[in-house]
Amino acid sequence: MKGTIAILILIALAIVFFKCDDSARAERQKTQGQDSELALLMRQMHVDAKEIKEEIINDNSLSDYNLNNDFLLDATPTKSNVKGVKFESMARYYLQKSDSLYHNPTKGSYNQMVESCIVCHQAFCPGPVKTIKKLKIN
Ligand code: HEC
Repeated sequence: MKGTIAILILIALAIVFFKCDDSARAERQKTQGQDSELALLMRQMHVDAKEIKEEIINDNSLSDYNLNNDFLLDATPTKSNVKGVKFESMARYYLQKSDSLYHNPTKGSYNQMVESCIVCHQAFCPGPVKTIKKLKIN
């Protein structure tokens, strides 16, 4: 019983941890009752980045790296302020870094890509920054 409660708490924490903040969550529930396109895309980007990390650590090559995160510019966010010139320039910066990574898969170009995730998150969505930092290769 104690174990079950501990697991439930861990799951709850994991969910809370990945959200930007409470207001984003409240707004999401109010407006859509489900996760935004951007939130879903981000989750996929996070999973992809973990896979890329393993590949870089193992042999500096990428198996099937897809750049369909161009959708980043069009995906509907939870909060409407996540649009406009600032978001777009940070998104383009990230796309540029992930393009360089694809053409030159090294620890350095990978870490720069992760850094570009963090730059945007510090401006628009600080919640997951700690988790994203763990993607870096030391
Ligand atoms: C141009 C800005 C930008 C870039 C670049 C960016 N993010 Fe995000 N990210 C956001 C915003 C804004 C949200 C909130 C999305 C929403 O709730 O609609 C978000 C949400 C997330 C979430 C939480 C998703 C959820 O479950 O609600 C994770 C995890 C995440 N990003 C990881 C990453 C990773 C990993 C990268 C780089 C590979 C990255 N992000 C690059 C802006 C960005």
